[in-house]
Amino acid sequence: MIVNAKQMLETAVKGKYAVAQININNLEWAKAAITTAQEQKSPLIVGVTGGAARYMGSFNVVAAMVKALDRDLGITVPVAIHLDHGSYEECLACIEAGFTSIMFDGSHFPFEENMKKTSEMISLARKNGMTIEAEVGAIGGEEDGVVGSGDIADPEECRKIAALGVDFLAAGIGNIHGSYPADWPGLDFDVLEQVSKVTGGIPLVLHGGTGIEEDMIKKAISLGVAKINVNTECQLAFAAATREYIEAGLDKKDKGFDPRKLLAPGAAAIKKAVKDKFELFGSVGKA
Ligand code: 13P
Repeated sequence: MIVNAKQMLETAVKGKYAVAQININNLEWAKAAITTAQEQKSPLIVGVTGGAARYMGSFNVVAAMVKALDRDLGITVPVAIHLDHGSYEECLACIEAGFTSIMFDGSHFPFEENMKKTSEMISLARKNGMTIEAEVGAIGGEEDGVVGSGDIADPEECRKIAALGVDFLAAGIGNIHGSYPADWPGLDFDVLEQVSKVTGGIPLVLHGGTGIEEDMIKKAISLGVAKINVNTECQLAFAAATREYIEAGLDKKDKGFDPRKLLAPGAAAIKKAVKDKFELFGSVGKA
């Protein structure tokens, strides 16, 4: 069932679990994420970057694909179609394309400009029945061409952006897109706690969900994180399973080159990675 992300995240905050945002790259990704959500009775946020949408054709292609999968596979759990790290123009394109949720990432603008543009996007999202995520501070590393400085969020800026009426907020707390370096100092829980206190209980978002230790994930959830974004982990799982298939020479056996066979182990690996995340985040059985 295609919905915006409001109710699923508010319920998650109250229930002390997090909903996974699984970023998709193609049909296999979308189908794997959605069918796993249905099997595990878990809510799901399908994440789409501008880069992934361009790869698949357009935001329209993505929205049509996800909506058709939802309808024709009889999906009953709530699924939101969410723009990840959107620019101003990408947000407008997703509103047009029928997404149900957007992230406006104004974190690279001076704060006042981030506030102004976020505020504008909030009214547009509201008019269209969509939910909206904003970002303060910056997530380190790179997400599909969007590079962040890794600045830790200022709780006072988080308070101001939350007060504009965003539905959920991503605050940089030392999290990084992609794999974490061996000397990563971990999440800044002091800042997370302060942000949580001053943002009135709105769901907080943890980006860079790949490779964060279990106890840190659980602590973050206990401090108000209700949405955790995962991308790289599914890509690594897909690549490893595909490599194994090819290295075993299975693409050269019978019709093993048929993409429906060639891509099957990778798709199964994504399903397993998604299921593991639902279990870790505590969302199994919550839909
Ligand atoms: P990872 O690629 O590190 O899992 O991060 C995903 C993300 O935060 C998307 O916004």
